Amino acid sequence: MALGIIILGSTGSIGTQALDVVRRMPDRFRVVGLAAGSNVELLAKQIEEFRPKTASLASDQGARRLKERNFPDLEILTGPNAMEEMVKREDVDLVLNAVVGAAGILPTLAAIRAGKDVALANKETLVAAGSVVMDAVREHNVRLLPVDSEHSAIFQCLQGVGDRDLHKVILTASGGPFRESTKDELERVTVEEALAHPTWNMGGKITIDSATLMNKGLEVIEAHWLFQVPPDRIEVVIHPQSIVHSLVELSDGSVIAQLGVADMRLPIQYALTFPERLSSPVERLSLTEVGRLDFEAPDAERFPCLPLAYEALAAGGTFPTVLNAANEVAVQAFMQGRIGFTDIPRLIEAALEQHQGVMKPDLEDILEADAEGREYLFRMLGV
Ligand SMILES: NC(=O)c1ccc[n+]([C@@H]2O[C@H](COP(=O)([O-])OP(=O)(O)OC[C@H]3O[C@@H](n4cnc5c(N)ncnc54)[C@H](OP(=O)(O)O)[C@@H]3O)[C@@H](O)[C@H]2O)c1
Repeated sequence: MALGIIILGSTGSIGTQALDVVRRMPDRFRVVGLAAGSNVELLAKQIEEFRPKTASLASDQGARRLKERNFPDLEILTGPNAMEEMVKREDVDLVLNAVVGAAGILPTLAAIRAGKDVALANKETLVAAGSVVMDAVREHNVRLLPVDSEHSAIFQCLQGVGDRDLHKVILTASGGPFRESTKDELERVTVEEALAHPTWNMGGKITIDSATLMNKGLEVIEAHWLFQVPPDRIEVVIHPQSIVHSLVELSDGSVIAQLGVADMRLPIQYALTFPERLSSPVERLSLTEVGRLDFEAPDAERFPCLPLAYEALAAGGTFPTVLNAANEVAVQAFMQGRIGFTDIPRLIEAALEQHQGVMKPDLEDILEADAEGREYLFRMLGV
C-alpha cells in the first residue's frame, strides 16, 4: 500500500524536487497534504496534479485565494498551527519538512509526537531545538531521516557501521561564491553576487548561508544532534567541486565517503525510500570528467560565522537557538539591502554575547530564546 506523505514547504527548492521524486513513484507514495508559505499559484498547480486531501498556506490572504479555486473535497488550513494540525492526520505515514527557518520546529515536533517518521531538510529545527527534538524522537520511537546532502552522505556511509565505531564526521563545503575573496572584497559584496552559488541551486536563505559559511556552521550543529558526535570530532573541509558530499572516519582509521553529482533529488529519494535504493533520474558521476577533487581548510578569519556556530554549540543550551534566530533576521536584512554582508556575523556575535543561556532547555525556553534573539536583532537594526 502506498505511503501517505505530507510535504511542508512544497513550493520551495527542496519541496518541488521532492514532488519530482514522488511523481516518479505513484505506487509508493500518496500525497496527503501540501503546505506552503505564500505561493498560491504554484501550490494550486501542485494540488491539481497530486490531489492531496489537505493544503495549508501561512498567509490568511493566500488561503482565501486558494479557497476561491474551489478544489472539491480539499480541506484548506491556515494560521499558526496549520502545519501542526496537518501532520497529525491518521492517513499520514511520513512527513517531509522542507520549510525554511525556525517555522519548521513546531511541525517537526508535532509529527514526531504523533508517531510519524520525519524526513528533515529543515536544518534550523535541529539547530534551534536539537535536544528537545532528539528526546522526542527517542520517546516516540520514530525515524528522523536526514535530507541535507551532507547528512544524507554521513547516514549512507554509516549503514552497517556500529555506533561505537564512528570516530569523526567530516563535512564538506563548496566554499560558496566568495571562497577566494579577500576580507576587503567581502565588505563590498552585493546580494546578487551572494545569491550566485557556484554548484547548488537553492532557496535564497540557504544560498546566503552558504556564502557566509553559516550553512556549514548550522550543519555542524545538525550533525552533532543526528549522529551524537561532540563538536571536536566534527571537521569541516572546503571541497569546491561538491562531488564528495561528506565522509566519516571510523575507529580503525578507515575513511568512507559518499560521492555523486550535485542533485538534491538523490538525498531526498534516499530519505523517502530508506532503506531501499531505487533507480533515479539523477545524472551518473563520471570521475574522469570531474578530473580532480580538491580539499582545503576553511578560513575562520574571513568566514567568522563558522567559528561562531562551533562556539554556540560548545556553549550549549539555548545558544544555538539564538545563533539561528539572529542569523535568520540578519540574512533577511542583508537580502533586503539594509546591512552589508560582513554585518551578518557581527550582529550574530553581538546577539550571542548578550544572551544569558538556559542549559537543558525545554521547548518553552527554546521558543523564548528564539524570540529574544530576533527581538535583539530587530532592535539593533532599528525596526
Ligand atoms: N535547497 C537546497 O538544496 C537545500 C539543501 C539542503 C537543505 N536545505 C534546507 O531545506 C529547507 C528549505 O530550503 P529551500 O532551499 O527549499 O528553501 P526555499 O526554496 O526558500 O523554500 C522554502 C519553503 O518554505 C515555505 N515557507 C516559508 N515560510 C513558511 C511558513 N511560515 N509556513 C509554511 N511554509 C513556509 C515556502 O513557501 P512559499 O515559497 O510558498 O512562500 C517554501 O515552500 C531549509 O531549511 C534549507 O536549509 C535546502
